[in-house]
Amino acid sequence: MRAIVVTDRAAGAAGMKLVERPDPRAATNDVVVQTHASGIVGTELEWPETWTDRLDRDRTPSIPGHELAGVVTALGYGTTGLSVGQRVFGITDWTRDGALAEYAAVEARNLAPLPGDVDFTVGASLPISGLTAWQGLFEHGRLRAGQSVIAHGAAGAVGSMVAQLAREAGAHVIGTGRAADRQKALDFGAQEFVDLDNDALEDVGEVDLVFDVIGGDIGKRSARLVRVGGTLVSVVGPSEARPADGLTVDFVVESDRAQLGEIVQRVRDGRLRTNIGAVSSLDEAAAAFHPNERRTGKAIIRVRP
Ligand SMILES: NC(=O)c1ccc[n+]([C@@H]2O[C@H](COP(=O)([O-])OP(=O)(O)OC[C@H]3O[C@@H](n4cnc5c(N)ncnc54)[C@H](OP(=O)(O)O)[C@@H]3O)[C@@H](O)[C@H]2O)c1
Repeated sequence: MRAIVVTDRAAGAAGMKLVERPDPRAATNDVVVQTHASGIVGTELEWPETWTDRLDRDRTPSIPGHELAGVVTALGYGTTGLSVGQRVFGITDWTRDGALAEYAAVEARNLAPLPGDVDFTVGASLPISGLTAWQGLFEHGRLRAGQSVIAHGAAGAVGSMVAQLAREAGAHVIGTGRAADRQKALDFGAQEFVDLDNDALEDVGEVDLVFDVIGGDIGKRSARLVRVGGTLVSVVGPSEARPADGLTVDFVVESDRAQLGEIVQRVRDGRLRTNIGAVSSLDEAAAAFHPNERRTGKAIIRVRP
């Protein structure tokens, strides 16, 4: 099969190569998926799991791209819940080969059925950003109607999902980002917008939940805005500062079949809009990881045209 591989950690996206690789085999509880589209996260080449396995052993050459939409072509021993020919979408294991390839082996439990009226490109744009937003807001942040939320990076892949899901849940949403992102963040459901380069974040006052996708100084300053009993949720590693009288949670998204179903149903009935940015081919994957100009939205690689 054709696949993108990375072998040289120091080289980053410049070291990406399109090569021929053996087709993957379905291990116990796996399915093999013929990839139609794969989503990428810009920071993927910085993740340790891209380079080493769970015992920290070198696993290069490795195939990036950890969210996908495609069609099941084979089932491993003991696999339940999916069948050959079924359209699916979901997250591939971080420490195994990903989906910038014509086929990927994935544990079946990490996939959900993709309804026939949802395009593969849309399906591939949802798993990481949608589940990260869902789990951060509802599992870790325990968001309730009437609460207030700061959705950092609200025009980005995760942030746009956070803004929409929080708004639908009845929260008051304050989006943040660059000046150029104001309208996009408001379109995704933010009721206020803070331009982090020119406005004072502190003017927002206290909120019940901060959803941090930026970290650093923004994360530290955000911790001070969490009101008593509130939560700072971070997806960019442990926060350097904690709310004085609230919780701090940092987490890594996990695939979840039921939650994927909730998310795709919202897309189908118009409650949730995807935020798809550039759509590229497998040959253009390296450029998609390392664009020359600023791009917004979820980058998708259309593996099967
Ligand atoms: N822990 C997890 O499970 C998990 C899951 C998904 C993502 N993540 C992480 O979350 C982060 C965001 O991912 P994403 O896919 O949503 O990325 P993204 O689409 O690039 O969104 C991030 C948004 O935040 C904005 N932003 C970043 N720094 C900013 C700053 N200093 N001031 C103003 N705006 C700023 C970005 O604008 P610019 O493009 O102009 O910088 C962009 O609009 C990444 O670090 C990713 O690795 C973690």
